[in-house]
Parts: sequence; C-alpha cells; structure tokens
Amino acid sequence: MIEEFHRVKRLPPYVFAEVNRLKAAARARGADIIDLGMGNPDMPTPQHIVDKLVETVSKPRTNRYSASKGIPGLRKAQAAYYARRFGVKLNPDTQVVATLGSKEGFANMAQAITAPGDVILVPSPTYPIHEFGFIISGAAIRHIPTVGGTAKDPHAEFLRGVERAVKHSIPKPLAVVLSYPSNPTASTADLSFYTEAVQLAKKLDLIILSDIAYAEIYYDNNPPPSILQVPGAMDITVEFTSLSKTYAMPGWRMGFAVGNERLIAALARVKSYLDYGAFTPVQVAASAALNGPQDCVDEIRKIYKTRRDCLVESFGRAGWDIPAPPASMFAWAPIPEAFREIGSVEFAKLLIDKADVAVSPGLGFGEYGEGYVRIALVENEHRIRQAARNIKKFLARSQETMHNVIPIPQKASR
Ligand SMILES: Cc1ncc(COP(=O)(O)O)c(C=O)c1O
Repeated sequence: MIEEFHRVKRLPPYVFAEVNRLKAAARARGADIIDLGMGNPDMPTPQHIVDKLVETVSKPRTNRYSASKGIPGLRKAQAAYYARRFGVKLNPDTQVVATLGSKEGFANMAQAITAPGDVILVPSPTYPIHEFGFIISGAAIRHIPTVGGTAKDPHAEFLRGVERAVKHSIPKPLAVVLSYPSNPTASTADLSFYTEAVQLAKKLDLIILSDIAYAEIYYDNNPPPSILQVPGAMDITVEFTSLSKTYAMPGWRMGFAVGNERLIAALARVKSYLDYGAFTPVQVAASAALNGPQDCVDEIRKIYKTRRDCLVESFGRAGWDIPAPPASMFAWAPIPEAFREIGSVEFAKLLIDKADVAVSPGLGFGEYGEGYVRIALVENEHRIRQAARNIKKFLARSQETMHNVIPIPQKASR
C-alpha cells in the first residue's frame, strides 16, 4: 500500500494534539486542569428543546431516513430567523439547507464548488475548517492576515490584502472566507465593512463564504449583522450559522447554509449523495429552538458576559492584561511579554504544566495566530478565578526562576 494517502498527506499534524496530550497526561497524574481550551459549550441545552426531542423520538416513523437538506419546517424556521433577526428574506426551498453542524456544511460547500488547484482566500488566524475544508477538496490556500485588532484599521487592511492576493494569484482566486465574530480573535464586522466587502468581491468576481456561528453571542447590546443584509450580497454569498453556541447544542450537530440559490443548490446536491440529514427528532427540536421563546438565548449570552468580565478582571489582577472581547465565547490574549519568545505552543504547554490551566495556542489557528493564545469561556466564574490565582502564582514564580521555567524554544510546527 502507498506510504501516505494523497488527501491525508495534505493535512499537517494537528497543533492542538501536543497540548491535548499534555493535558491528558496531567489529568492522569491527578492534576485538576481548568480547561479553557476547546470552544465546547458547557451549559445544558434549554429544557423545552430537549422536551421536544424526547416527545418526537417516541412518535412513529421518526426512526426513518430524514431529508438530506432538512425537513421543510426546519428550513422555514431558519428563514423566519433571518427575517426577524436581520430583515433578510429567504426562500426556504431554494435558499436554505440544514447541515450537520455548520462545520459539515462549510466542508461540503468546499467540496461542491472547488476544482483541484483552485485558490481560496482565507483569513489568518481563523477557525481551522475554513482552511482545511478547502485543502481536503484539493484547493490551494492564500492566507490574508486579519491582524487581530493591532493595525489602525484591520478591516481595511484585510480588504487591501484580498485585493493584493487576487492581483498576484494564478489561477485567479475563486472565493474568500469571512467570519465575524471571529474565532479565535473575537473581532466583529459592521455593515459598512460588509458593504465594502461585497463591492470588492463583485469587482474581483469572488464568491463570499461568511461564517457567523457566533452571531448570537455578543455583548454590550451590539448584535452582529449578516452580510446578506447588504443589497446584492445574495448574488455571490452563502452564509453559515449554527445552533451549537446559540442554544448550547454542540453535540446535536445542527447548522445551516443560506444564501445564493446556485451555491445552495450545489451544496444540497453534494449532500444528497453523502447523507440523509440529521435524525428527524433533532430537526424537529431544532425547529422548536428557532421558533420558540428566545429568553434562553439571552440567558446563555448573560452567562458568557459574566464569565468574560470575570476573566478580564481576574486575569488582569493576576498580571495578564487581556482585551475584553466584544462577542464570541473567546478571549484572544497576547502572550505575556516575558514568554513571547517561546511561542504559543510552548507557552500553552507551560500553562498546563505549571498552572494547571489549558488554553489553545494561537498558532493552531494559522500562521498569523502566533503570539497569542485563545481562552474559551467554558468554565464557571469560580473556576476562572481559580485559573487566575494559579496564573498569578506561576507568573510570580517564573520571574524569580525564569531560567528554569522557559524551555529552549522549539521549532514551531503546524
Ligand atoms: C467560527 C466557527 N464556525 C463553525 C463552527 C462549527 O460549529 P458547528 O458545531 O455548527 O459545526 C465553530 C465551532 O467552534 C466555529 O468556531
């Protein structure tokens, strides 16, 4: 058999694997690791959604194969969400597809539209499927730095980066990925940015794939918009949403792709060959989530906000200043000055080893993620404060014994 399969060879070693291994080893030793690593919501799914699942499971015929692109009631519920939240009108038959989480939707959209060797413009740092969905599909990736809020106008810089990349890429890029609120940087976009992005993409003949998985996790009363609110965006855009964070349903695997009919039809066609849709009771319960009372979403948002404020305040007092994220369930934290040289992977490993705290190294989100770690708000306030106390001790200790704490820098790998 050949040594390595073509597609598998295109996937680099998982950056997070090293950190995960260390975390598992520490736990095996009995360490109480405070895990702020993976963005895996810890809250329970609201009861009325669970009840709807349970009620539907016992009904006859719900055990049968479901509809690959989603049952009509679910697609209608998603269209109603877009109408009420963004004022965007969608045809549930031709402009909405339910997906097995937005990750699956994104990856299969990449499969549907990519020819081998196509060039795709992907922000860096970003959520890994934005890049690897296309790499698995045979595309070549060109990273556009998002700068993470340090440039004067990072959004204008990003669009200039897109324009430059199109000018210098052969073949001409097919699509650009946008994702706000961003995982990992938490940066957000407003309608004027989206308007410029649509104008530019039309001028450069680019498809836009917009991922707004964190559209409902926002703070300070500033709900993120949808790019589909921009007149004409529908001509070139597909947007992905998710129930995972909005309703604390990550394991249920329910998301959506909506937008341009031709792109949506391409995704629906590929999916029709690959799956029979989510389990019908999950689709019925997801409809109940979208159509039902939304105070549970306010509750979830409130919990993340309390944790965000607690993190910024307690870590700040511990000597680590972290900018307050305006949205998402993540803080994007610059590595403290004294540790910057060792890079994000080694720093994350040190935090596990010396402070019993797990975070995600920025490098795992792309080359421009180096210099930062991502902290997920997935433990309660008590645990976040405990993490801050551990880190305070670690920072104090390392000042005295830095030569013992900092390992020899290792070559970063992706
Ligand atoms: C930006 C972004 N998009 C998509 C996803 C995937 O979500 P889902 O559970 O809907 O597949 C995540 C999950 O962390 C994410 O951060």
